[in-house]
Amino acid sequence: MIKFTIITLFREAIEPYLQSSMMEKAVRKGLAEFDFVNLREFGLGPHRSVDDTPYGGGDGMLLRCEPVFNAIESVKAKDLSAKVIIPTPVGEIWNQSLAREFALGFGAFRSAAARDLAPAARGDGPAGRGPELSANPHYIILCPHYEGYDERILSLVDYKVSLGKYVLTGGELPALIIIDSVVRLIPGVLGGETSAEIESFSDGDNLEYPQYTRPEDFRGMKVPEVLLSGNHGEIAKWREEHSGKA
Ligand code: ADE
Repeated sequence: MIKFTIITLFREAIEPYLQSSMMEKAVRKGLAEFDFVNLREFGLGPHRSVDDTPYGGGDGMLLRCEPVFNAIESVKAKDLSAKVIIPTPVGEIWNQSLAREFALGFGAFRSAAARDLAPAARGDGPAGRGPELSANPHYIILCPHYEGYDERILSLVDYKVSLGKYVLTGGELPALIIIDSVVRLIPGVLGGETSAEIESFSDGDNLEYPQYTRPEDFRGMKVPEVLLSGNHGEIAKWREEHSGKA
């Protein structure tokens, strides 16, 4: 069972997706669990404030340390093994290899996202044991909003993940993309694949080849001959040649 705890101010922006299609199926089959923590509940003062202006000036508001630390610590109090992910445009670019590592429950400590954090923050212990396999990985995704976050929050973070070189308004969309790309790799979510099979895609980001279904000829656009040939060797070769590599 893989678990994601999402710390957010906008649960309503995330939850419908997790209650649909494959994510819903993963939960129903007991393969995944999604939990939410409302950052507002950890806000300060009568307005439950979670943000403040930056020291040194500048536009916008930053997530403050206190609500975020308290929210993360409330989750870790129940599960010390939980690893913290923060979506940020300056994180390690997310890809299929990372999704696979997270699905398999490896702490991707060798990843660049973790390398630039202090060993204590990485949580990999003084011996630096490297990646560990966890049967029940638990990831906390902290969804920043507003213009950013107080840098000290990173001392609690295990992985900084970027979805690409563009800026979104918050961490909710990245959280969904991370969760979807990881959960679909869990054995039993899509089909009967095993984790060994997932691991065997060790050449990294080998994307799908083009596929076709009926009719053979649609408005003059024909299905490639080889796919109709029944020659499995040739078909495999064609697919290999036509698979997009990221
Ligand atoms: N938050 C804002 N922009 C982001 C991006 N491109 N990737 C991950 N998190 C983000």
